[in-house]
Amino acid sequence: MLSWDDYEEDTAVATEKTAAQPQPAVQPQAEAPAPAVEEAPAESRQYQPRPQGDLHARAAQAVKDLDVAAGLEELEMGAARIEVDDKQMINARADLNQLVPFKYDWAWQKYLDGTANHWMPQEVNMTADIALWKSQDGLTEDERLIVMRSLGYFSTADSLVANNLVLAIYRLITNPECRQYLLRQAFEEAIHTHAYQYCVESLGMDEGEVFNMYREVPSVAAKSAWSLKHTQAIAQPTFQTGTPETDQELLRNMIAFYVVTEGVFFYCGFSQILSMGRRNKMTGVAEQFQYILRDESMHLNFGIDMINQIKIENPHLWTPEFQEEVTQMILEGTELEIAYARDTMPRGVLGMNAAIMEEYLHFICNRRLAQIGLKEQFPGATNPFPWMSEIIDLRKEKNFFETRVTEYQVGGALSWD
Ligand SMILES: [Fe+2]
Ligand SMILES: [Fe+2]
Repeated sequence: MLSWDDYEEDTAVATEKTAAQPQPAVQPQAEAPAPAVEEAPAESRQYQPRPQGDLHARAAQAVKDLDVAAGLEELEMGAARIEVDDKQMINARADLNQLVPFKYDWAWQKYLDGTANHWMPQEVNMTADIALWKSQDGLTEDERLIVMRSLGYFSTADSLVANNLVLAIYRLITNPECRQYLLRQAFEEAIHTHAYQYCVESLGMDEGEVFNMYREVPSVAAKSAWSLKHTQAIAQPTFQTGTPETDQELLRNMIAFYVVTEGVFFYCGFSQILSMGRRNKMTGVAEQFQYILRDESMHLNFGIDMINQIKIENPHLWTPEFQEEVTQMILEGTELEIAYARDTMPRGVLGMNAAIMEEYLHFICNRRLAQIGLKEQFPGATNPFPWMSEIIDLRKEKNFFETRVTEYQVGGALSWD
C-alpha cells in the first residue's frame, strides 16, 4: 500500500534522477518574456456579477418571500437550553439536534468504543483461503456447506438489520447520544455486508447463489422471514410511538433484532466459522468473521442497554403478559437457530455437531433472557465450547475489547492459539 513515506521516497528519487540528467551544451533560447500585466491593488478591485437569468431572479424572489416568522417558530427561537432531565429514550420532547448535555453516558462511551474498532474488509489477506477453496481436496463437503450457508445467511441478514435500523428504529429513538451510536452501527452493518461481498468475490463464488440464498434455502429463509416479520409494523412511515401498544411494538422490534437476530441467529454461523479458523482453514474468512463478531457483540450490548433503559423509564410496558410474549419470541428464535444448526451439520464436523450446538444455543438463550431481566428457560445449560469464551464469552466481552482494541484498530493479523 502506498504510504506517505513511499510518496516522499518516490519524490526524492525522481528529484535525484532529474538532477543527474546531463545538461545540454547549448541552452535553448529563452522565450520572450510575457508582457507584464498591470494588476490593480486588491482592495480597489470590484466584483462584477454576470448578468442574471431567470433562475437567479427566482432564487432572489424566493429569499425575499421566505416566511421568516414561520421558520423561527420551527426553531423555537429563544426556547430554554435543554436540561438532562428533558431527555428520554422514547417520546422525548427535548431538541434532538443538541447532542449535549449527555444523559446516557453508556451510549456515548459505546459510540467512542465503536469508532476505536474501525476496520475494513480489504485489510484481511484472503490468499490462503482462495487456494484452499479452489483446491480439490482442501475442504470436506461438510466444511464447504458451512462456508456457503454462513455467507448466504449473513450476506442478507446484515442488510435486514441495517434496513430495520435506518428505516424503523432510528427515528423512534428520541435521544441524540443513542442516535449517534445508531449511525455508527449502521455504518458497521454496511462494512459487514461489504465483508461478505469481499469473501464471495475473492473466492469466486456464484454471487446469485449466495445473495439469494435467503429465498432459496429453507433454514436460511426461515430466520430471515422471522426477522422481516418483526420489521413490518414499525417500518411504516405512519407508525408513531406514544401509546402503550405502539411503545410495546417498538420494544418487540428491538428484541427481535438486537436480542434474537444479532444475539441468537448469528451464533451458530459464527462459532462454525471461528472453529474452522482455529483449525487453520479459511483463516481470512474467519478473521473477517472475528472482526464482525466484535462489532456484533457491541450492537447486542447496546441494544440490551436501550431496551433496559426503556423499561426503566416506562415500567408500565413490561407487563407479565408482555414478558411472556417476549420470552416466547426468544424461544422461537432459538428453535430456528437449532434447525439451522441441524441443516448445516448433518454429521459431526469441525469438532462440533448439531446436538452440541443445541446445548450451546440453550446457553445463549438463557443469557439473552437474563440480560433483559427474564427467567432462564434451560436450567443447567452450559457452554460446550470453552474456546469460544476467549472470543465471545459474554462475561468477558468487555475485557476482550479493552485488551485487543489496538490490534483491532490496525486490522492486524489475529492469532488463533
Ligand atoms: Fe452486522
Ligand atoms: Fe449488527
